[in-house]
Amino acid sequence: MRRKTHQTARLTLRPLRRCDYSTWVKAYAGGLEQQNEWDQGPLKKNKCTLKVFTKFLLRHRRLAREDRCYIYGVFLKSTLVGMIDISVYERGSLQFANLGYRLFNRYWGQGLAREAVRAAITIGHRDLKLQRLEASIDLPNKRSIKLVKSLGLEREGIKRAYWFQNGGWDDQLIYVARKS
Ligand SMILES: CC(C)(COP(=O)(O)OP(=O)(O)OC[C@H]1O[C@@H](n2cnc3c(N)ncnc32)[C@H](O)[C@@H]1OP(=O)(O)O)[C@@H](O)C(=O)NCCC(=O)NCCS
Repeated sequence: MRRKTHQTARLTLRPLRRCDYSTWVKAYAGGLEQQNEWDQGPLKKNKCTLKVFTKFLLRHRRLAREDRCYIYGVFLKSTLVGMIDISVYERGSLQFANLGYRLFNRYWGQGLAREAVRAAITIGHRDLKLQRLEASIDLPNKRSIKLVKSLGLEREGIKRAYWFQNGGWDDQLIYVARKS
């Protein structure tokens, strides 16, 4: 499915393009030091080559074409401030996806993630025809929990040993946005 551009009051959500390379480098290499365990922190500049960026773009395009994952850059004017991904887990009678979000740490604390995730929910429900968007959150990730609560997502409970990360299976808090 084609990823459309989506505009909010302050932000634009759209696929990354080749011309975004310099803002992409700034976003990934120019961040503040890692703020918490879920924050990636700045990447080394030598990891942010045009070759790596081009690989990302091609991968993003392929995943969308195959209806597997829809990845959007979040732009504040021409600056890349975050990334959103909507990973389709099941079509058929479930129409179910995982909703992932990340804001580069320089831009935290301004309500931008909230604005971007609200838009991502509209994209998921309206453009991608998904019924269920699930945010799967590490139990101590307070910022992320606050964010989904502020958007009115419904807490469904805890899935035990649900997410494999850092060499182990972690419990996850599940919050859901359903299409009404
Ligand atoms: C989770 C994450 C996206 C939240 O970002 P955020 O900037 O804290 O979230 P919000 O956009 O909701 O901003 C909320 C803050 O902006 C403030 N704010 C300022 N202006 C605002 C406005 N116009 N509207 C709403 N909030 C506003 C709020 O008071 C709040 O401040 P606080 O952090 O001091 O309480 C970010 O921390 C992140 O990317 N973390 C790393 C990756 C991650 O954990 N992803 C989620 C995995 S499940």
